[in-house]
Amino acid sequence: MEYGIETRCIHGAEGVTRDHSYGSMGTPIYQTATFSHPGMGRSTGYDYSRESNPTRSELEKIVTSLEGAYDTVACTSGMAALSICMELFEPGSHFVCTEDLYGGSVRMFATTAAKKGLSFSYVNTSDPAATEAEIKKHPNTKALYIETPSNPTMQVTDLRIMKKLADTYGLKLIVDNTFLSPYFQNPIALGADLVVHSGTKFLGGHNDTLAGFLCSANKELAEQIRYYYKTVGPALPPFDSFLLIRGIKTLSVRMECQQKNAFRLAEWLKGHPLVTKVLYVGLATHPGYEINKSQTRGAGSMISFYVDSPETAKRVLEKVKLISYAESLGGVESLITYPMLQTHGDVPPEVRERLGITDCFLRFSVGIENADDLIADLRQALEA
Ligand SMILES: Cc1ncc(COP(=O)(O)O)c(C=O)c1O
Repeated sequence: MEYGIETRCIHGAEGVTRDHSYGSMGTPIYQTATFSHPGMGRSTGYDYSRESNPTRSELEKIVTSLEGAYDTVACTSGMAALSICMELFEPGSHFVCTEDLYGGSVRMFATTAAKKGLSFSYVNTSDPAATEAEIKKHPNTKALYIETPSNPTMQVTDLRIMKKLADTYGLKLIVDNTFLSPYFQNPIALGADLVVHSGTKFLGGHNDTLAGFLCSANKELAEQIRYYYKTVGPALPPFDSFLLIRGIKTLSVRMECQQKNAFRLAEWLKGHPLVTKVLYVGLATHPGYEINKSQTRGAGSMISFYVDSPETAKRVLEKVKLISYAESLGGVESLITYPMLQTHGDVPPEVRERLGITDCFLRFSVGIENADDLIADLRQALEA
């Protein structure tokens, strides 16, 4: 019998977080670079921490279980996980990507990945016909790179349709699942080959640790990833692995609470006279509402919204007290971000304009504070 996801957040697939030597509830932190060998040509299963470490292995097993993956590598950041993902592709490979990806991913694609001979085009992947047309334009397309909901304009892409396109054209399907976390969405179950996470966000959950994950759907990909992982060296350190294990134990309660708050906040924002538009995939009026519902267990807690003027946007950022004006998302503390200058500052201005990342646009990561307190804080900031 497979455990429910709440149980797997705490115990992994098979109670893996229990230390059998002393019964310690906390996973031991194996703060070691290397491991002694019991004899010539023999190994305890661990040789050198760049390749593998018992604390990190526990974490990787938990994330593998949550994502329904074959294997997972834990990295020092989401970007480190993404850079390992890029190693899987030969020079000349082309990627068709969701048009409003996280800005750091766009920067990597335009710089380090481009230097390796990889190329990228961006399309509204919530439009399957446009996505297919873009694939056809580039005979060397090797993968679809999807964020759903996308960052920061919350477009929803139908992963089942992307899987069909991937099969038709022989492509890998890669999904950045950071925004919903494995608690709400499991792209591998819908056909994805690879899942990327910024573990810094919902998985870590406390805005205190950087981490990233690359999950693979099969043995062949897993072996290639393990090879590049030990070669490049983006391994998450033991103490940070421990913090991620601890964070994930409460993933289910945090995600439920954050989502509940997000519904309240989205409804409240919709009714405020200085807010001109609210983008939240949990609202039935969102164009991607039905598709998101059909492929997830929830809408998460990321809300973007437009205010009436750049002055109002500036006032909100400067006047919030409880909510912090800070980059990042997914933690217990509510954060508000100005994508134009922060997460998407490196995206070319004309692209930002086309996507609607304007000077009136704010992104809100709803935390687990009391919803009334969050509303009161936003009200005083909007109306200050
Ligand atoms: C959707 C998404 N993917 C990837 C990343 C990169 O993750 P990290 O900051 O852990 O490197 C981020 C960071 O904000 C993100 O929002």
